[in-house]
Amino acid sequence: MCGIVGYIGSNQAAPFLIEGLTKLEYRGYDSAGIAVLNDQIICVEKTVGRLAALEEKIEGKTPEGCIGIGHTRWATHGRPSDTNSHPHTDCHGDFAVVHNGIIENYMELKEDLISKGHVFKSETDTEVLPHLLEELYNGDFEASVREVLKRVEGSYAIVFMSKKDPDKLICTKQDNPLVIGLGDGENFVASDIPAIISRTRRTYIVNDGELAVVKKDSVWITNSLGEPVTKKVFEVNWNAEAAEKGGYEHFMLKEIHEQPKAVRDTLSSRINKDNSAVVLEELGWTEEYVNSFSKVFIVACGTAYHAGLVGKYYIERMARVPVEVDIASEFRYRQPIIDDNTLTIVVSQSGETIDTLAALKEAKRLGSKTLAVTNVVGSSIAREADQVIYTWAGPEIAVASTKAYTTQLIVMFLLGAYMAGLRGTVAPRRMKELLTMLRNIPAQISETLEDVEPIKVFAKKYGFNNDVFFIGRALDYEVALEGSLKLKEISYIHAEAYAAGELKHGTLALITQGVPVVALATQKSVYDKTLSNIKEVKARDAVVIGIAATGDTELEKYADHVIFVPRTDELLIPLLAVLPLQLLSYYTAITRGADVDKPRNLAKSVTVE
Ligand code: M6R
Repeated sequence: MCGIVGYIGSNQAAPFLIEGLTKLEYRGYDSAGIAVLNDQIICVEKTVGRLAALEEKIEGKTPEGCIGIGHTRWATHGRPSDTNSHPHTDCHGDFAVVHNGIIENYMELKEDLISKGHVFKSETDTEVLPHLLEELYNGDFEASVREVLKRVEGSYAIVFMSKKDPDKLICTKQDNPLVIGLGDGENFVASDIPAIISRTRRTYIVNDGELAVVKKDSVWITNSLGEPVTKKVFEVNWNAEAAEKGGYEHFMLKEIHEQPKAVRDTLSSRINKDNSAVVLEELGWTEEYVNSFSKVFIVACGTAYHAGLVGKYYIERMARVPVEVDIASEFRYRQPIIDDNTLTIVVSQSGETIDTLAALKEAKRLGSKTLAVTNVVGSSIAREADQVIYTWAGPEIAVASTKAYTTQLIVMFLLGAYMAGLRGTVAPRRMKELLTMLRNIPAQISETLEDVEPIKVFAKKYGFNNDVFFIGRALDYEVALEGSLKLKEISYIHAEAYAAGELKHGTLALITQGVPVVALATQKSVYDKTLSNIKEVKARDAVVIGIAATGDTELEKYADHVIFVPRTDELLIPLLAVLPLQLLSYYTAITRGADVDKPRNLAKSVTVE
């Protein structure tokens, strides 16, 4: 995920900028850069690769000046390259900008600016910001930044630097973190606390819509209307390790709570304004192209495979194209029937999983069209596939995948709806209804994550059982598979997921008194059938923890406990139903004293067959 730093004071800026960016390296990045202002010149140094490459580049000619900004970039719009790295500047080098997040309407802004004569150097969304500032500059830096912000849609943390106002940095944020570190005769700006805690522990946490004018001996903060905001100083008492985790005990928990933003980012600019259609500019498919697919394969491993199972539902239900889902390590050796009317979709968070990469190469060799869904720009899988849709989840550090899964579901849903739009298989009214509900999912994820207390209690109560079963029908079954994998991998409990209707064909023999069964009952179309299966396990004295949509009054009659998730369409509810399962596995692992972020025998990226 991108990192931001800024400095203004009486000391040289560059050493802090490099030091601060080093402290953000753990977040993952593919390029780095700094801009330092001195004597009416903004000197920008940036390069693709690690910070060490940047340090090497500036060795012996470190830009001098007491005000500067820096950035580590994790590519979203535009591949990792020197030119796409931040900071970005306008045509005349008057302004420099670093930005985290996504400018959703950058294409229309860029076209307009180009028509007014602006020359763009990069493929990024960010570059519209300095050009827009150049276009709108009216002699007042702060007022001009406000004019820029009025025209920008999306999520961001931004720091602006101007050679016309060499005594201030201006920063603002929307849905991305931003913090100001208060020094003595110097002040700091950063996207994250680890960047500044070696210099100061006194901070202002900037809220959405606020704008801060940071000078070396003052910080002036206003709200979106320009009214002054009185801030309390937040004293950071975390150590460096806790600061990296944003105050959470583990990366996994941090990543679980990052899901509203990850999902919002992945959705951003991919639904049109009136919620009537999905926009996937990166694909640019035609009706004829989509209609040429006789079959779709979805191929992946682990959690990504589980996302693929949900993807099958989405594509089949909405676009009415047959889909087969395969485990990558099986697919490549089973001689799948593929021709040039086949589309193979590979799903991989890391983009480096060797089984998935090999399956992709095999599908290509057999003549399939290929599409990658991945989280890492420029990864091996992204490079190998014909086309790519990126999940914009930001780097996932914990071995147990959480935000990658939910963002993969989002991409799968968007793809299903996109294909359906081209094939005309979903009525316009239904499409609008679905996309309107989809837009509301980030808020519903936040709501679901608000109350974790009951889940902590279940984790304590059942955390020492040896076996746990997960059951559900339809999409609930696919989510059950993910819930059981999560529990296995970090708590080391034997967990199995079963299609609820399949239990009675053998596995029901294992259901005895006190065995915990997590029963998902969110799918309206098979609700009564699921309830019957829940009654079957209850009759064997299992302890049932039910997952249901708010307003369900039936399940409570049969389950020992029920966790409710907000109501939405049954196609979308997996995005919510998986959250209590992620939390349950997390808190169970805590109860058992397991190493949550680095479970035994597992690696984050599996690059061996
Ligand atoms: O990077 P990928 O998505 O290709 O990784 C696939 C699996 O290795 C991964 O999802 C694994 O199952 C996770 N540890 C699950 O939490």
